[in-house]
Amino acid sequence: MKIGVLTGGGDCPGLNAAIRAVVRKSDTLSSRVVGLRNGWKGLLDPSPMDLDGKMVSGILHIGGTIIGTSRTNPFKDPGGPEKALKNLRILGLDALIAIGGEDTLGAAAKLYEMGLPVVGVPKTIDNDLSGTDFTFGFDTAVSTATDAIDRIHTTAESHNRVMVVEVMGRHVGWIATYSGIAGGADVILVPEIPIDLDEVCDLILRRHSRGKSFSIVVVAEGAQFVEKAGADGELVLQEAPKDEFGHVRLGGISQVLAKAIEKRTKFETRYVVLGHIQRGGSPTAHDRVLATRFGVFATEMVHRGEFGKMAALQGNRIVAVPLAEATATLKTVDMGIYGIAKEFFG
Ligand code: F6P
Repeated sequence: MKIGVLTGGGDCPGLNAAIRAVVRKSDTLSSRVVGLRNGWKGLLDPSPMDLDGKMVSGILHIGGTIIGTSRTNPFKDPGGPEKALKNLRILGLDALIAIGGEDTLGAAAKLYEMGLPVVGVPKTIDNDLSGTDFTFGFDTAVSTATDAIDRIHTTAESHNRVMVVEVMGRHVGWIATYSGIAGGADVILVPEIPIDLDEVCDLILRRHSRGKSFSIVVVAEGAQFVEKAGADGELVLQEAPKDEFGHVRLGGISQVLAKAIEKRTKFETRYVVLGHIQRGGSPTAHDRVLATRFGVFATEMVHRGEFGKMAALQGNRIVAVPLAEATATLKTVDMGIYGIAKEFFG
């Protein structure tokens, strides 16, 4: 068999581990693998790259993706999907493994309906794909954010400041909730629950009235203010056009929040945006293992002809779930876990 593999959307730690797993497993099944460069762009405008054991040697622990990524949407232009299907034939590919998040795998689900023999592998630091308990990349992002919060703690304490730490996650608060719990945040704000500024300031004031002289607030980039806070209840955006999947570029809520907290509480407040640092660097052992399990399982799915599905983690088992199901709705934060985080607020 000749299998194509692509990585689409925002990169994340563990992509190389997944590519390596696909290539090594394919080798044992006497299949060849070619990398399609830069996500779906690699199927619309192919310059494929042969991937063998030598090519994937030494990449397990390296961040990013050796085959590149992009936010190219094959459905953006008329004729795009047909071109993708035609190029698959021209390249002589029997199947495709698409490693991506909701956008890349959403496109894979639609292309499968049009006849593309595709299997999905879930990756994203945001952990917002349905059907899987975790995506790879998330654990590394949480570890990086937690390390940053630990560092911010010491400077916050030395200066008696409120520090607002903005983490990624797009429209869900998984990174905020997990890194906030792990980093001992005093308030965690997520897109799933609109920010009530009165409540946030009360929590900080209560904490300081108990003798604490600093506070750590973790806010997800996609969090929004409730309208009664005086703000407009809209997303805080960086100035940028939408990407090909229609996403705005989020960022900047920590600055707005820090200003508002300082004004109301009179405590000196600073903000930090962790940004793409959360997506870079070496994957954690957990992400290396998860990406490897997904890569091996997806390759087996291809050989079983189990197309239109995604490798997923459910409990501690890897299972196959329909791509259409996994990409139908965003997986928002488990309110049970957020409830645990709340126990430590203020
Ligand atoms: O989906 C991953 C992610 O890092 C989001 O958390 C973030 O909003 C977005 O990608 C940033 O995208 P870009 O790399 O295009 O700035």
